[in-house]
Parts: sequence; C-alpha cells; structure tokens
Amino acid sequence: MSPKIGILVVGLGGNNGVTLLAGHVANDLSLSWETQNGPMSANWYGCITQIDSKGDHGGCGFRDRLSGGSYGGLASATEAVIGGWDVRPTPLGDALYESRVLEYDLVRKVRDGMNGIKVMKGVYDPSFVGESQHATATHVVRGDDDLTLRSRVERLRKDIRRFRSENGLLGEDGGHVTVIWSASVERPSSASYSTADELLGAIYGADENDDDVSPSVLYAVASALEGCSFVNGGSQNTLSPALSELYGVEYRSSISGGILGKLGIGGLYCPDRPAYLLGTDFKAGQTKFKTAAVEYIRALGLLPMVVASSNHLGNNDMLNLTTKKTLDAKMRVKSNIFGPWDEPQLDHQVRVMYTPYIGDEKRDVVEYTSLGFLGCQHTMLTYTRCMDSVLCVPLMVDVAVWCDLFSRVDVSTKDAARATAYLFKVPEGGAAGVDPGFHRQMGELEDVLNTRCGGTTSSTAREEGRHLTWDVVEKAVGDGVLTREQADALRGLAKE
Ligand SMILES: NC(=O)c1ccc[n+]([C@@H]2O[C@H](COP(=O)([O-])OP(=O)(O)OC[C@H]3O[C@@H](n4cnc5c(N)ncnc54)[C@H](O)[C@@H]3O)[C@@H](O)[C@H]2O)c1
Repeated sequence: MSPKIGILVVGLGGNNGVTLLAGHVANDLSLSWETQNGPMSANWYGCITQIDSKGDHGGCGFRDRLSGGSYGGLASATEAVIGGWDVRPTPLGDALYESRVLEYDLVRKVRDGMNGIKVMKGVYDPSFVGESQHATATHVVRGDDDLTLRSRVERLRKDIRRFRSENGLLGEDGGHVTVIWSASVERPSSASYSTADELLGAIYGADENDDDVSPSVLYAVASALEGCSFVNGGSQNTLSPALSELYGVEYRSSISGGILGKLGIGGLYCPDRPAYLLGTDFKAGQTKFKTAAVEYIRALGLLPMVVASSNHLGNNDMLNLTTKKTLDAKMRVKSNIFGPWDEPQLDHQVRVMYTPYIGDEKRDVVEYTSLGFLGCQHTMLTYTRCMDSVLCVPLMVDVAVWCDLFSRVDVSTKDAARATAYLFKVPEGGAAGVDPGFHRQMGELEDVLNTRCGGTTSSTAREEGRHLTWDVVEKAVGDGVLTREQADALRGLAKE
C-alpha cells in the first residue's frame, strides 16, 4: 500500500488550486470526458512521481523505479488528501468553471462535487497584494483569531491539526502534510530576523507588534510548528535564514524546554521528523525551458549574449501583478534565474503583459542570441502556448510526493533542497547556488534518489540489478551494520 499524504494549498480557490483539485477528483473517479480532439480519460501526465519509467506514460517517471525501495515507494496522488485556504468565498467548482482552464465537459462532471468541498478562511493582509484583489477577499479570518500575529499563527495551526485528524494523517511514520503557497504574489516583506528565536519572539512575544510580517511567513511558521513541509510557489521573499533554522530538525527537537515554554507556545507536532522549507517560485513553463535552452547553448561551447523574452497572460495571477509592488517581486526571480552561472556578458531581458482575453493560456516568445565559431551569431526563437495552471499543478503534486518520501527516508534539508531545485525559479535555502541548468538539476534529483533513497539510475541499470546494491547499503545503515559515513565512502568508491 502506498503512503497517504496530505496537501494543503494556500490559495485553493485560485486557478492552480482548482485545477489540482479537479485532476484529483477526475483520477479518483476514473472519469472520461470529451475534448475537441476526442475522448480523454483521467491521468497524471506531467507528474514524474506518478508515472512509470517505461510504457505509455512517457517513459520518464519514477514511480516504478522507486517501488522496490525499502521505504514503501512513492505516494499516490490519487490517494492524497487535498484541502486548503482561500480568501475568496467562491465555491471551488464555480471557481473552476470561471477559470476556463480545463475542458468544459470535464468541468461539468466535477463542478457540483467540488462545490461541496470546504475551503478554510485565509489569514490576510491587503497591504501585501495588489489592489485588484481587495474586493474579492471576503473569506478571511476575523475577530479574536485576527487580533495579533500570534493569534493568526495559532488559528492556522488549529486548521492544520483539524485537517490531520479529520483525514487520518497522524502518527510518527506517515501522513506527511505539505503546505503549498499557491496564493497571490505578495510584495516583499520588510521584517527581517536573523534567528528562529527572534522570529518566534516577534510573533509570540508581544501582543502589539507592528512588524511587517507577511501572511506567507505566518503560514510557513504554522506549518513548521505542525510538522508540515512548506513550499513557496510564489515569488515573494518568504524564505529566510530564520525560517530555515526553524525548519531544522535540530532546532525543532530541542526547543521544548526553552523558547516554547518562555513564550507559551503549544507543543510541536513530531519535531523529530524532517519537514522541508522549499522555494522560491515554481519554475513551470517559460523559465524552465530557458534554463534548458541556455544549458544547451553553453554545452555546445557557444557564448550566450542575449536572452530576450516576453510573455503574455490574462489570468488573475497576472492581474495581481499589474501593481508595481507585486510585479517587482515577480521580476526579481524571473530575472535572476541564471545567477550562479555568473555570465556578465549575458543580457537577459524579461517583459510581461496582462492580456485578459487569453485568460490562463500563457503565450511566451524567447529569442536566444549567442556567439559561435569565430564570433558568428547563432540565433534561436521559441514560442510556447499552454494553460499556466496545467504547467504548474504537476509541480505541486511532485513536490508534495518528494517531501513525503524524503521525510520518511530522513533525507537532510540540504539534499531535499538540491533534489527539488529543478522545481523553482530561484532555488533557495539548502539549494542556494545549485547549477541553474535544467538537466543538471534533474541530475541532482537522480543523485539524491540513488544515494539516499535506493533509486535506480536507469531502467537498464535496474534490469541488470546493479543498483539493488544501494538498497542493501541503505538497509545496512538502517540496521546499524554500516555508518552513514561508511555508506557514503562506498558510494564514492563506486563513482570512481
Ligand atoms: N501557474 C503557473 O504556471 C505558476 C508558475 C509559477 C508560480 N505561480 C504562482 O502560483 C500562485 C498561484 O497562481 P494562480 O494562477 O493559481 O493564481 P490565482 O490568482 O488564480 O490564485 C491565487 C489565489 O490565492 C488567494 N489568496 C490570496 N491571498 C491569500 C491568503 N493570504 N490566504 C489564502 N488565499 C489567498 C486568492 O484569493 C486566489 O484565489 C501565484 O503566486 C503564481 O505567481 C504560478
């Protein structure tokens, strides 16, 4: 039986949230529907944790490759429990209809069922999002729970606990819950703390606190205290060294007698189990391809000179970005994607346009100009069209499944971050400085799966049985026959 996981989406009523939920319902009920190109049936295409390495599902997935591991394989997205918060009161089925992302025949089949799914009220601060979002934000936490930073975090903690207990996601050995920020992009927060103690002190230590703490930080703190992984899918500056420290098992498992007691913070959920803090900003479409294309140009020995890209999109996420304060947050990450390559000659320009008529179907155009042999120019142009949420939802599924696997296998914070770097525009925390190239980043994932999770490097290797050895090595570490250092030394020898 595959492990059961929970996914809590902040912004569940947004385009990503309802597309994820519709996919979940469609798979759960094994639905089929009509499209312009003929009948279609439910699948998890695009989610590499849910498809196999061979067969009609594309041949690049990991499900079968990790099924033989001693840790119980990858969680099934169909069996996951999905819930979340939104500040808009629109019932989820109606929000799906309004989003115009999926085929109407599918929407028709899932709409009523989705309208019956409860959405939790969101913790909200209008100063952090664009003015375009204010009128619809009526489904928000009010009253005593909204008085202070402390009461807001405590409210979110209660929400998470209820979600765990209503859905049987409790216990030391399972039920990993991942909280995903898929809410509107926030302006940058100016509050900054250098340690986890300072961060907790600011939230729990004073009733009157005017620090500029964003809602995303409050969700992330509540998630850490409740043993959940937190994924920042938006482009704001939620991640910080203080938050990273709060996520460290060492910190969480040692604070019971210290700051928790001093500040009267209720006990932490499974503080000894790893939970991860990952981000920033999902690398879903145009940006992902850019990191593959420039990696290709560099691999050919060409010198990339200009990457000029423009995209246009007409969904609510882009509407929120029509305000300068939120657009600046998005541009920070979009422009920074090649950072660690340190290519001072590369002129990377990005333009975004809000074009309401085309809704969620993003169109992007990118022109790459490089210098080839004897300085002759080499130019490529790419044009892509896809529903934005259809690009992003598989990343939400995969990140939750990886967090669950890594937590069960006790993968370190740093390894979890580098393995999932391919999912983010600007990998932060433990993944800072990872090579930006898409294939290099997939290599990081392979490496962590092979060295930490008993994965197989390829289907050929699996057939030869060569990598079964790593399963045995992991088991030997688990049984105390080998130390972690000895296992790592063995792997080093094998690589040589
Ligand atoms: N779709 C993609 O390809 C893609 C790629 C990278 C990043 N993202 C990011 O994912 C996020 C979601 O995208 P989307 O298209 O679903 O946007 P959306 O605007 O359709 O949905 C965002 C939802 O968040 C809700 N919300 C805002 N503040 C909230 C709060 N404090 N608490 C709870 N809910 C809140 C809004 O009411 C809205 O329903 C955005 O930050 C976007 O930049 C999307």
